[in-house]
Amino acid sequence: MYQTETCFEPFVDAIVSQLDIGVLIAEMKGRVLYHNAAMPRLLGLGSDHPIANLKELNRLKLQKLLYRALFEAGEPDAISRKSKSWVHFEHKLVEGEDVRYLQFKTGVLEMPQKKGWVRLLMVQDISADKRLEAVLGGPQPGGLVTNDPAMLEIVERIAQLAPTEASVLLQGESGTGKSLLARLIHAQSRRAGQPLVEVNCAAIPETLIESELFGHVKGSFTGAVDDRPGRFETADGGTLFLDEIGELPLNLQAKLLKVLQEGRFEKVGSDVTQTVDVRVIAASNKNLRDAVDEGSFRADLYYRLAVFPIYVPPLRERPADIDRLSQHFLERMVDRGYSSRIQLSNEARKVLMDYPWPGNIRELANAIEHGMICAQDEVITPDSLPPEVREYRQCAAQPVAKTVVAASDEEQRREIEDALKRAQGSRAMAARILGIDRSTLWRRMQRLGVQ
Ligand SMILES: Nc1ncnc2c1ncn2[C@@H]1O[C@H](COP(=O)(O)OP(=O)(O)O)[C@@H](O)[C@H]1O
Ligand SMILES: [Mg+2]
Repeated sequence: MYQTETCFEPFVDAIVSQLDIGVLIAEMKGRVLYHNAAMPRLLGLGSDHPIANLKELNRLKLQKLLYRALFEAGEPDAISRKSKSWVHFEHKLVEGEDVRYLQFKTGVLEMPQKKGWVRLLMVQDISADKRLEAVLGGPQPGGLVTNDPAMLEIVERIAQLAPTEASVLLQGESGTGKSLLARLIHAQSRRAGQPLVEVNCAAIPETLIESELFGHVKGSFTGAVDDRPGRFETADGGTLFLDEIGELPLNLQAKLLKVLQEGRFEKVGSDVTQTVDVRVIAASNKNLRDAVDEGSFRADLYYRLAVFPIYVPPLRERPADIDRLSQHFLERMVDRGYSSRIQLSNEARKVLMDYPWPGNIRELANAIEHGMICAQDEVITPDSLPPEVREYRQCAAQPVAKTVVAASDEEQRREIEDALKRAQGSRAMAARILGIDRSTLWRRMQRLGVQ
């Protein structure tokens, strides 16, 4: 807990009313003294349904759940005992098609000036974590976390396709989690006990890629002093992850296609055909479809790889993940020796939300670590964040365009394109840069034919 001289109390109301967590305070007999807007919404009562008494929640069987949770916590008689110990329990709320998992936390607190006791109840929607857990078979240590609906769909899709032998093509900007997803596919496949071999096609000089992938025989080129197996051979029985596949030279694309179709290849400098059993997962941060149109990527290879194309969205299009992953990295850094008490200030969270994250999750992880190093009194403020992150908002917040009034269509189009470029394609951000709202931007883009 962090508190300066300024008293927190006057703002509690405002803060609690904005939380996504439901908060409710009731007298011990059940009469409700306060709840915020999130509470009825989370309980499926509609957002403007006031709760006057805990009895109204009977259909949730709260009482029973509470008893069971206390019993499991070894405190069966604690329900009436006034203590500060909190009880946690989960509840699956089913309403027609809609299934949500709620986490409850409740405790009994004494009112100021000993005016009696109240029950405090807090509720949080943990459906996203539950869905992930169900798909991944339990929380993954150091693994993937997400709160983003599109990412959850990807994870579910992966669970379906992982056990098949199909090739998978992962596309998305650098740092969005493609490598992590590739490992997840392998881990959930029938090949999980076999090797997962990763090759970054962009990191190997063009002249060496063929030998790297397929191996070579002694004397096949200068420097080939020995026979060497390639990555395909090493991955035999397992999975080969070809990262940055868009960088693979055209002549090797043909050779790759042949292995994918026939499971056969020759080492560099050899005419002996070898067979392998390898599943290929490929990733690219450029749009391969465009590369096909431009002639730098073979169409037949593209279709062979893209049996299951998956597009991983950039972090700026996953607002819920900015928060979720920030927390994740805060917790993870504790293993690296940072204090577990370090918290993000609300201001810093806002700055993180507003930044377009060109480096995606990799950049966010670095920013959080930077924040932890520069935290003041265990709080990460905007000042603790890397300069490019904290300064972004200042420059984005100053509308560049006071224009609009007399600007010609051509000028407006240029301005919008420019703003979109600065905002890395995020319309919300571009609108802010232009000092107009999102729907105005959208209408203007339609009218001017801006893509
Ligand atoms: N959803 C996620 N949850 C937790 N960590 C993530 C997630 N997505 C990415 N990361 C982490 O962010 C970093 C970048 O991800 P990576 O898979 O290497 O991206 P890419 O391969 O697309 O460049 C890695 O350290 C990875 O573990
Ligand atoms: Mg990668």
